[in-house]
Amino acid sequence: MQTCRDLATLRECINAWKREGRRIGFVPTMGNLHAGHYALVELARQHCDAVVASIFVNPTQFGPNEDYARYPRTEQRDAEGLAQAGAAALFLPTVEAMYPFGAMGCVQMHVPGITDILCGAHRPGHFNGVATVVARLFNMVQPDCAVFGRKDYQQMQVIRYMAEELSFPVEIIPAPTLREGSGLAMSSRNQYLGDAERDTAAAIFRTLGQMREQCIDGTPVAQIEREAEAALQALGFTVDYAEVRSATLAPASRALDNRRVALIAAFLGRTRLIDNLEFEIP
Ligand code: PAJ
Repeated sequence: MQTCRDLATLRECINAWKREGRRIGFVPTMGNLHAGHYALVELARQHCDAVVASIFVNPTQFGPNEDYARYPRTEQRDAEGLAQAGAAALFLPTVEAMYPFGAMGCVQMHVPGITDILCGAHRPGHFNGVATVVARLFNMVQPDCAVFGRKDYQQMQVIRYMAEELSFPVEIIPAPTLREGSGLAMSSRNQYLGDAERDTAAAIFRTLGQMREQCIDGTPVAQIEREAEAALQALGFTVDYAEVRSATLAPASRALDNRRVALIAAFLGRTRLIDNLEFEIP
């Protein structure tokens, strides 16, 4: 695996592969990698001939009181794991390389509508930061395809929308969510949790399962959401949202088909956890 710390080295690598006619796959990450991330690399390998992974803790997608400074950075271990998962290159840009004129006044992406709800409503500016950095990474890596996890369902939809609307020549490939045995979705932020909190955190996936069952039974969405929130609060969560939406994230009442997604974001102590479950109603 080649490690590229600047754009010139990355371009050299990628141009050589492109000359050989290789199809480039891309897996952007913020590091502190776990099995869920490595599965994205393996999926990318099934669609492409050379996979580039990036690690960049992106300052523009963190709010002022969020965990940017303490976000876990484990570059050496991540690099070993990526090599093992079969990545051909690792791109590790600095903040200066990503935002040469500074992160504050940089050119920004804004994907309207879909970024005002759910996580976007609770983390103002978050998806602008995500879309901004992903657009930059796409321009730097120039991949043929890029893999994004369904774990971050809204993020995946934002990226799809942006790539389609701006005609990025990148195929967006969604990847299934990897979970612990308890059902807890794997996340870099899980390591903030103590043992007891980790047990409690598994309730998020159980609650999503209940929301699905109620939806299939025909329980009104407003009632499902109220009960899910109350169940999580009773376990000590501070709930940002527990909602059922259409697959496009429109309100369930305006769904055009029978696909639904239940989504939860909730704090356990200072740790914000998100998860979702896709399903179909009869
Ligand atoms: P990060 O949280 O590091 O996630 C990188 C990718 O891994 C995302 O596509 C995410 O959806 C996926 N992922 C995380 N946990 C997963 C799991 N349990 N199963 C499957 N996939 C999982 O998401 C980001 O970084 C950033 O916002 C980024 C897109 C890199 C832009 O900065």
